[in-house]
Amino acid sequence: MERMSLRKLGKSDLMVSPVGLGCWQFSRGKGLGGKQWPVLQDDEIEKIVSLSLEGGVNWFDTAESYGNGESERTLARALRKAGKSADEVIVATKWMPLLRTAKSIKKTIDKRLESLGGFRIDLHQIHLPTSFSSTQAEMKAMAQLVKARKIRHIGVSNFSAKKMRAAQDALSRHNLNLSSNQVRYNLLDRKIETNGILDTAKELGVSIIAYSPLAQGLLSGKFHDNPELIKERSGFRKYMRAFKSKGLEKSLPVIEAVKELAEKYLVTPAQIALNWVLQFHGEMVVAIPGATKPEQAKDNADAMKFKLTQDELDHLDEISSPFKN
Ligand SMILES: NC(=O)c1ccc[n+]([C@@H]2O[C@H](COP(=O)([O-])OP(=O)(O)OC[C@H]3O[C@@H](n4cnc5c(N)ncnc54)[C@H](OP(=O)(O)O)[C@@H]3O)[C@@H](O)[C@H]2O)c1
Repeated sequence: MERMSLRKLGKSDLMVSPVGLGCWQFSRGKGLGGKQWPVLQDDEIEKIVSLSLEGGVNWFDTAESYGNGESERTLARALRKAGKSADEVIVATKWMPLLRTAKSIKKTIDKRLESLGGFRIDLHQIHLPTSFSSTQAEMKAMAQLVKARKIRHIGVSNFSAKKMRAAQDALSRHNLNLSSNQVRYNLLDRKIETNGILDTAKELGVSIIAYSPLAQGLLSGKFHDNPELIKERSGFRKYMRAFKSKGLEKSLPVIEAVKELAEKYLVTPAQIALNWVLQFHGEMVVAIPGATKPEQAKDNADAMKFKLTQDELDHLDEISSPFKN
């Protein structure tokens, strides 16, 4: 079967695997969003990282806010344990702008580098569009970090089309480019296709990094097979509409279509859902599924090992079209 090859992130020289590993799951109960996932042990995290690497994943997405540096530290330890050096992997992290000004981007960078224990910041991202500073001021601070060789490339996350354009405009003044916008994108959340984000990214040559590409596990079909399962999970998913009976009913046609293709390809529904995200808009979209169990990491990496046909992609497009708005 045809394998997917590495992709250029925006106009940067970063060549990333279509599937990267999302490392929010390594927060170990710490920080604001840390309660969303179970507290993973070192050996589980090491297995998640090593199985991802074995499956062809060459990059990792973490953040300052994932356990206040816990995710960065655990990721670095697991990469070292897997025998990887900074030259062999790509690491993306994020600065949290809430209740802060752009000054803190420079103030916190050494802490980020310390947490990453020798791994580089190949991509530094502004986690959210909400801050006390303008996008221009944030981009100026990021550009200074590139010039100081503290970070290599610049990305944003959850930015609207307008803000993305403002970020690119600001960076152009420093002869730099915006490499990526990290946004929620999956078969059950396709808003970026109708709110201008995808079109603007295409026009500017910015990559889309799809977060929650499995709709936080929904697209695996396991919560449709057993709606009781969500009650056993830590975190906030159980309170979300999508995981309740009405939500599950609404997404069922998509899950059924995904399952049908999974049977045809002898793969899992999660792999079909990822394959669609990675192919439907060509190489400009890459995805960072997270894993709470080692076998999920292997499953997700293996989604790069085959390609759905255009007809199959179009079929999933049609069935999931109610989720465009
Ligand atoms: N920039 C942002 O604002 C932002 C926001 C959210 C996430 N992110 C990033 O994106 C990454 C991924 O997003 P996410 O964690 O929200 O959602 P996701 O990747 O769609 O879902 C991850 C969860 O789904 C389940 N799962 C994963 N692979 C599976 C498989 N093959 N089969 C069955 N179940 C599977 C696991 O949970 P269970 O085992 O408990 O079911 C796992 O923890 C994060 O780690 C983070 O790096 C960024």
